[in-house]
Amino acid sequence: MAADVGPGGLAVLTAAALAVALVVLYTVRLGAPPWPSAPRARRALLAALPDRVEGEILELGSAWGGLALDLAARYPDRRVVAVELSPIPWAVSRLRALAGRAGNLEARRADLHRVDLSRAGLIVCYLHRDAMARLAARLRAEAPHGCVVVSNTFGLGDWTPVARHPVGDAFGTTILVYRVPESLPATQA
Ligand SMILES: C[S@@+](CC[C@H](N)C(=O)[O-])C[C@H]1O[C@@H](n2cnc3c(N)ncnc32)[C@H](O)[C@@H]1O
Repeated sequence: MAADVGPGGLAVLTAAALAVALVVLYTVRLGAPPWPSAPRARRALLAALPDRVEGEILELGSAWGGLALDLAARYPDRRVVAVELSPIPWAVSRLRALAGRAGNLEARRADLHRVDLSRAGLIVCYLHRDAMARLAARLRAEAPHGCVVVSNTFGLGDWTPVARHPVGDAFGTTILVYRVPESLPATQA
């Protein structure tokens, strides 16, 4: 088999196998696969975004960067930071940002739980329950009041969304919109 593909082919196969292994490893470590929002959910999410944003736009867990490119195109006068820790999806999103000449888009390899939220005007995410609970705690402490959070599927713990947009797919997917309040009621603080 190895003789059939030749040394070049073997190198490509090895690199591909390593890349797949790395994606699997980070999926297990982070508890979320680099699965992009499905086209219908992505359309609903984009439709749920505010017309104007004050401050930075963060996409937390941006995977391959498709949604981040949409955000950069939608808000050309805003800085968009796409945050992804898994190296292969991050590398692809960085290449896509360069190829798409999205000057306002930064593809940053970082842990989303360590990213500065203090300048965010809009946060977009599609994560999982535990990550959202951790994020909720940090938003309370760090995000500016009025910051809008738009999440595919997973809610911010016991926060009450200001809007819910059912996607209308077979899975019952909903896009949830939150706004960070000035001071949270006792039950949510
Ligand atoms: C389901 S994908 C969402 C992709 C994209 N946001 C979208 O909606 O199309 C979730 C991504 O979050 C990333 N992720 C999970 N935990 C993370 C963390 N702590 N720091 C950075 N990225 C993380 C995963 O690697 C994965 O690529």
